Amino acid sequence: MIRVLFVCLGNICRSPMAEAIFRSKVESVGLSDQIDMDSAGTGDWHVGEPPHEGTTEILSKQKISTNGIRARQVKKVDLDRFEYVVAMDAANLGELHEMAGMQPASSISRLMDYVTDSEFEDVPDPYFDGNFEQVYEMVTEGCEKLLEHIREDKGI
Ligand code: 4NP
Repeated sequence: MIRVLFVCLGNICRSPMAEAIFRSKVESVGLSDQIDMDSAGTGDWHVGEPPHEGTTEILSKQKISTNGIRARQVKKVDLDRFEYVVAMDAANLGELHEMAGMQPASSISRLMDYVTDSEFEDVPDPYFDGNFEQVYEMVTEGCEKLLEHIREDKGI
């Protein structure tokens, strides 16, 4: 199984959105038996909570399910369990590199790395400004490109 972990700060806005969108894309191409996904936050404030309503509202309009998604904090063992660890912004990326140390087993990247023509490097945090629409567009494109990248990497 190929395992993908999306990471943001609180694990209630951006990374659960990425998990849900990526899950729906993987399902739609019939690869659910080969690619698994999860999300986690570097912070622990929202552990156990479902996604933020800004995320659930925009996803439900698109008929994308967030069933079963609950916040948890990322831990060091995740970096061994997940082959692709995908951060939303530079702060998350820095925390993951710090946690991983010198020789990470997983590939640690940022979602917008896969969108080569994007003017953005980070998916902005919508928790304070409420801009879930822009985040949805960026995460959708990022997940599309990430899935293409994995399919090419793995020849599937
Ligand atoms: P997220 O957004 O990292 O996209 O889940 C945030 C959620 C909660 C907080 C910050 C960012 N917080 O400070 O509680």
